[in-house]
Amino acid sequence: MKITWIGHAAVLVEGSKTVIIDPFLKNNPKAARTVESLPHLDYILVTHDHGDHFGDTVELAERDGAKVVAIYELSEMPAMAQAKEKINFVGMNIGGTYREGEIAASMTPAIHSATHGAPAGFVLSIDGKKIYHAGDTALFSDMSLIAKSFGPIDLAFLPIGGHFTMDVPQAAMAVEMLKPKLVVPIHYNTWPMIMADAEDFKKRCGQVSVNVLSPGEAVEL
Ligand code: NI
Ligand code: MN
Repeated sequence: MKITWIGHAAVLVEGSKTVIIDPFLKNNPKAARTVESLPHLDYILVTHDHGDHFGDTVELAERDGAKVVAIYELSEMPAMAQAKEKINFVGMNIGGTYREGEIAASMTPAIHSATHGAPAGFVLSIDGKKIYHAGDTALFSDMSLIAKSFGPIDLAFLPIGGHFTMDVPQAAMAVEMLKPKLVVPIHYNTWPMIMADAEDFKKRCGQVSVNVLSPGEAVEL
């Protein structure tokens, strides 16, 4: 299975199903892929309604008939409500798991803000692997429960850019709680306000493997 960091918080998972998380491409200065260059999507997971995460959800959902999995109230966003008839929306909530075939998406808490519903993260189970995407979040000690209840985590995408989310030292503390096999830092260096030193993050994670990717690079699981 190939998992590509497209840039910012956008992650593309190509396994037995194709899943994108937080498909922010068009206005993303670091996006390594265009909407047109994306493969056919089966699922779009959206962590919260902020533009740098919701991004091109509507266009992609309409294009591919992909299921949009997100917090229930995301459907009340004007962009979603307007396209209601054309979008296959799966509303869920924190703590729950949406299962279909070999896929499971568990919604995890995130300490952040949102206008429509609460912000969230996801643990995506696909092809026998578990991928945690934290969404936008501050550090919180219940991350240890995420590892306990939904783990073990094979790959974690964690924000490190600070200002809107955890910064480098905090993200390293998150890694201690999550104990993932592999970590990829995200949500940094997109704009001046969230500049961060990914190599410093890597150093702070000690024994845990950290793969500092450039936008467009992928890991294999
Ligand atoms: Ni946000
Ligand atoms: Mn964000």
